[in-house]
Amino acid sequence: MSQDDSIKVTSDGSEIYHPSDEVVSRATIKDYDSLYKRSIEDREGFWAEEAEKLSWYEKWDKVLDDSEKPFYKWFTGGKINIIQNAIDRHQDGAIADKTAIIWEGEPGDKRRFTYRQVNEEVSKFANILKDKGVKKGDIVTIYMPQVPELAFAMLACAKIGAAHSVVYGGFSAEALSQRINDAKCRVLITADGGWRRGKIIDLKAISNDAMSRSPSVEVCITIKRTEHEVSMQEGRDYWYHELHTEASAECETEVTDAEDMLFILYTSGTTGRPKALLHTHGGYSLYTSVTHKYVFDIKDNDIWWCAADPGWITGHSYIVYSPLINGTTVIMYEGAPNFPNPGRWWQMIAEYKVTILYTSPTAIRGLMRFGDKWPEKHDISSLRLLGSVGEPINPEAWKWYHRVIGNETCPIMDTWWQTETGGFMITPLPITPLKPGSATKPFFGIEIAVVDDNGNEVAVGEEGKLVLKAPWPGMARTIYGDDERFREVYWKDYEKQGWYKTGDSARIDSDGYVWIIGRIDDVIKVSGYRLGTAEIESALVSHDAVSEAAAIGLPHELKGNAIHTFVILREGLEGSDKLAEELGQHVRSEIGPIARPESIEFVDSLPKTRSGKIMRRVLKARALGEDEGDLSTLEE
Ligand code: WTA
Repeated sequence: MSQDDSIKVTSDGSEIYHPSDEVVSRATIKDYDSLYKRSIEDREGFWAEEAEKLSWYEKWDKVLDDSEKPFYKWFTGGKINIIQNAIDRHQDGAIADKTAIIWEGEPGDKRRFTYRQVNEEVSKFANILKDKGVKKGDIVTIYMPQVPELAFAMLACAKIGAAHSVVYGGFSAEALSQRINDAKCRVLITADGGWRRGKIIDLKAISNDAMSRSPSVEVCITIKRTEHEVSMQEGRDYWYHELHTEASAECETEVTDAEDMLFILYTSGTTGRPKALLHTHGGYSLYTSVTHKYVFDIKDNDIWWCAADPGWITGHSYIVYSPLINGTTVIMYEGAPNFPNPGRWWQMIAEYKVTILYTSPTAIRGLMRFGDKWPEKHDISSLRLLGSVGEPINPEAWKWYHRVIGNETCPIMDTWWQTETGGFMITPLPITPLKPGSATKPFFGIEIAVVDDNGNEVAVGEEGKLVLKAPWPGMARTIYGDDERFREVYWKDYEKQGWYKTGDSARIDSDGYVWIIGRIDDVIKVSGYRLGTAEIESALVSHDAVSEAAAIGLPHELKGNAIHTFVILREGLEGSDKLAEELGQHVRSEIGPIARPESIEFVDSLPKTRSGKIMRRVLKARALGEDEGDLSTLEE
């Protein structure tokens, strides 16, 4: 097929990009429809068959236990540790000497680790943790830059049956402390700093500040990265490199139950308090590795680059765990995509002959802004597949990514999923004809619907609420410490049907293609980062000058959405640019730079319902100059 034949326009005006013969002939899965049908008709059979390909200490008794809905359990009675699959089983044979991780620091320093070396590093780290009293079931907080030790720390926790709670390195001391306190962590792993746009982010200073508010921390292990002066507290703080020289490179992997906790990961929801989604060893190992293998058609010689941060679910699932389970070579990069120039990523792709790049629409739009000349300077023809995640990708960015980065030959896997789902839920396969902006169809074993408030499916092409109709192995098991909130947030709206509410709106077209529209709850996706309006509002209200605040997301060319806020000041105070600046700084220090509002507007009143709930929908309509809709409950 020539490239021109590969693009067709359908009757509804949308363009379809067909995969080339080469892509199709290489693909492991050549027939989506029949395998999908099979996976739905015999869901448990499908998952059991895939699970057989993993390594188990003891086989499960039951594939799915749904006796305590919505607290589903998978592979109960089975004994498995994700490390057995990601590292241990790769120690025999040729794969032991295959490169597992290629890492590049922002200043240009490089490190490589084979699967054997990863095993040694993780074993050492595991022994260090054990020596510091970490036991099975403990939760360890990790607050680090993107260095290999971040992955080793996560893997070491898993190896000894402890759980990790990775807090993204862009969060503030307050946000870090809140997360440490919620999980009552005894051990914190951090670094002296990390490089970002040529500057040091002083993670140790932030950690010290957080620990002053988190009395549960008894041990803080610090990795040396930037070599600048940091303050260490005797009896609590240890340098990793000092412990490392003493540690043994041999460590037995703990035999864990399929349903044992692997990690918790905080994400934003509809209240000011972040919630920790809990994932387990068995189902998560299976779901992430199967999605990675089939969606990106992983082969032995692939060089895989997921350019996310391990601090988010994308990094957990697709930088650290699934590629290692699948024995893939992974790229990790510490810094900014445009440092020292906007060619950095393309230069790295050329140098390492990366075959698959998986990133976010925000990153694509950001790099697109610098023009074609940067990618054109480098030979990026090693790429064969591209991916996108985190927010809807606008067709313009999709087409640029396809044309300039993918040379019109690389299909784009637009994967829709969530922290809660563990892995891809709606996604193309390499063989899927693509429509720019559509995540296409559900993955195997996944049943979806777009419905109204009563659970009736909306008509073809109409917008509604996206629900997931059946459980899957990668699903979060609960919100750590708050089963009730888990039930309330995700399962209560469609309790009768037993469906999971995603919080997204979507439409399904006449070809069965899913178009994700965006969040319909009080969550805003800014540059792919997930933030709660309530978190931003409570950060604003915690400032002495503020009496009330409202936050909304409005479309932004680069970031997808940007945060706009409306503030009522305390009696007698006047708004000014200076105060707006101070409030922006305040939000930054309460949550982190990603939460800093785009605009802060001082107002005298906010649209509210009679019961006092802020009507963000009205604020949004006003800002966009749209119809304000039903105002019968409005009492300003
Ligand atoms: C959004 C990120 C459109 C969506 C993995 C979802 C997307 C939220 C896509 C979860 C996509 C993710 N197209 N929207 N391909 N992928 N989203 O938990 O709103 O950080 O509910 O997980 O991101 O964000 P989270």
